[in-house]
Amino acid sequence: MRAIYLTGFMGSGKTTIGKALGEALKLPIIDTDEWIVERHQKQIRDIFADEGEDAFRRYEREALMQLPKENIVITTGGGIVIQKENRERMKDTGLVFYLQCDLDEIYRRLENDTSRPLLDGQKRLNMERLMNERQSWYEEAHVTIPVAARTVDEIVEAIVNVIKDRQNGDNN
Ligand code: S3P
Repeated sequence: MRAIYLTGFMGSGKTTIGKALGEALKLPIIDTDEWIVERHQKQIRDIFADEGEDAFRRYEREALMQLPKENIVITTGGGIVIQKENRERMKDTGLVFYLQCDLDEIYRRLENDTSRPLLDGQKRLNMERLMNERQSWYEEAHVTIPVAARTVDEIVEAIVNVIKDRQNGDNN
């Protein structure tokens, strides 16, 4: 099976859903942020502070290009879609799901979070700016899955159903 990619804004639940999805499909899961932290032995916040966002984006692209393309669930950082090369790589090598969540819900989830450097300062405004920049890139995914009012199990079931339909040759 081709890789399954989960994309979406920070706080949309990619990592949590990815873990449950990997279990449901009996596939290994790799998270691009975790891959970067392990590879560079540095937390994301420290990479941003010491080396800048451009370096982080380079590491993110490297991660994506090196990860397996089959029989795997890949969860991504919210900014993976910024680079066209990344969007193309994901679409060319797998099935891309956008976990779509409204900003009010994301704000509630991340209100007290301090781990995301791009949200430092005016958190809500920063979220709006980033979402405006990225929304159309997220929407390039093969499938959009609304997540806000659903449980993890419901979301995983929806994703598994899409995968099964696709395997049965029904692309709609
Ligand atoms: C980022 C999202 C983060 C992490 C980094 C940058 C972004 O991942 O990659 O802080 O640009 O949206 P999550 O989406 O897992 O929070």
